[in-house]
Amino acid sequence: MSDNRYVRIEASGTIATVTIDRETKLNALNPSVMAEIDGAFAGLRDDDGVRAVILTGAGDKAFVAGADIGVLARMGTLSGTEVSRAGQEVLRRIEEFPKPVIAAVGGYALGGGCELALACHLRVASERARFGLPEVGLGIIPGYGGTVRLARLVGLGRAVEMILTGDMIGAERAAEIGLANMVVPHGDLMDRARALAGRIARNAPIAVKMALASVYGAEEGTMDHALAFEASLFGLLASTDDMKEGMAAFLEKRRADFRGS
Ligand code: COA
Repeated sequence: MSDNRYVRIEASGTIATVTIDRETKLNALNPSVMAEIDGAFAGLRDDDGVRAVILTGAGDKAFVAGADIGVLARMGTLSGTEVSRAGQEVLRRIEEFPKPVIAAVGGYALGGGCELALACHLRVASERARFGLPEVGLGIIPGYGGTVRLARLVGLGRAVEMILTGDMIGAERAAEIGLANMVVPHGDLMDRARALAGRIARNAPIAVKMALASVYGAEEGTMDHALAFEASLFGLLASTDDMKEGMAAFLEKRRADFRGS
């Protein structure tokens, strides 16, 4: 049994759902919530039965309305840096998670909540999703990687506009600029996120993991390094049973049964 107070973990088949459940505070991230999110992902990482993770917020109003402003209000210079670094590390572990992580956003994704969604690999937004980085209105800047990841995802101009105005954008605009992968009816949010996760989970797990490593690795290296890295991962995959199975299944006109080996 989990001792978690704020984070629920449910598994259904090969898909795990992590729900941030601090609904009375719109799922705002305090240090306990962050630690429980981190613990949830650490557990799912080694669970071979799990092939994709959906991250969502409890209730109808918010994915996550930000870092807990009550906690942030008490920080000084050094502790401020530590708060930022600690949050960055948790989100980096999600970004580097070896299985796809899908944010299901059905309401406010603000500040740290927007940054958390940005650290996920894919974002499914309901029509009620609202994304924003309002930090400058509080006298701070996004400190969980938002200034870095938003620009990479939507381009410098759009990121600067969101970060400097602090304005929220709706789901349609988020999809238009590539912040959300899709917009779905509010009531269908979890089903659509699960459908997307299921679609990915049917593919060869090691190939999915290597694809994530290659795409995200390319963000950090030169073109030559990125291409060499892609080629080495491609070569590694040639040694997997799943590659043999995937190709045999195609040639035999049947569906592949991937074992993750
Ligand atoms: N940190 C701490 N508490 C938060 C919070 C946050 N980031 N976001 C919401 N809450 C709390 C509110 O203080 C309120 O608590 P209370 O009922 O004990 O007073 C509760 O969640 C509900 O929020 P409320 O503001 O009453 O809801 P609303 O529908 O009127 O407004 C928002 C919703 C999202 C617009 C508003 O809560 C908001 O602006 N939140 C802060 C967003 C933000 O700046 N995030 C970035 C932080 S770095």
